[in-house]
Amino acid sequence: MMKDRTLILIKPDAVKKGLIGTILSRFEDKGFRIAKLKMMKLSEEDAKRFYEVHVSKPFFNDLVSFITSGPIVAALVEGKNVQETVRKMIGPTNPKDAPKGTIRGDFATSITENAIHASDSPESFLKEYKVIFGSDRDHFP
Ligand code: CMP
Repeated sequence: MMKDRTLILIKPDAVKKGLIGTILSRFEDKGFRIAKLKMMKLSEEDAKRFYEVHVSKPFFNDLVSFITSGPIVAALVEGKNVQETVRKMIGPTNPKDAPKGTIRGDFATSITENAIHASDSPESFLKEYKVIFGSDRDHFP
């Protein structure tokens, strides 16, 4: 049975604005569990692996240079229906379309500087989890 879990990244814009606690609190307040947490700066190589599905998109280079521009916070978040619920809490990719009350609606400034990422499928979760946590010594679960 697939566990209900997702991976989120608090992007460099949101870290710079001091929103780590605010964003993580939204998930905890919703009843989700932060099962792993890591602050890091992604290498260009890992950023390209993380966003591999977008390699042919015109925005790929901007995406990689932004996500490597400063520290990010990655979290493994667990709970019932977490993947779907977290994506609703985050809101649409473009903050122009994101309603107030969603994380992007409240904190994102552009489609690139959009505060947060979350896995959009179990397949992308596994891929993203490996890039972020795969080389950890205390690797679990
Ligand atoms: P994210 O959820 O991290 O997944 C891929 C990212 O690509 C997305 O958030 C946006 O930041 C970025 N992105 C998606 N579409 C565009 C676009 N049309 N122009 C620029 N960046 C985009």
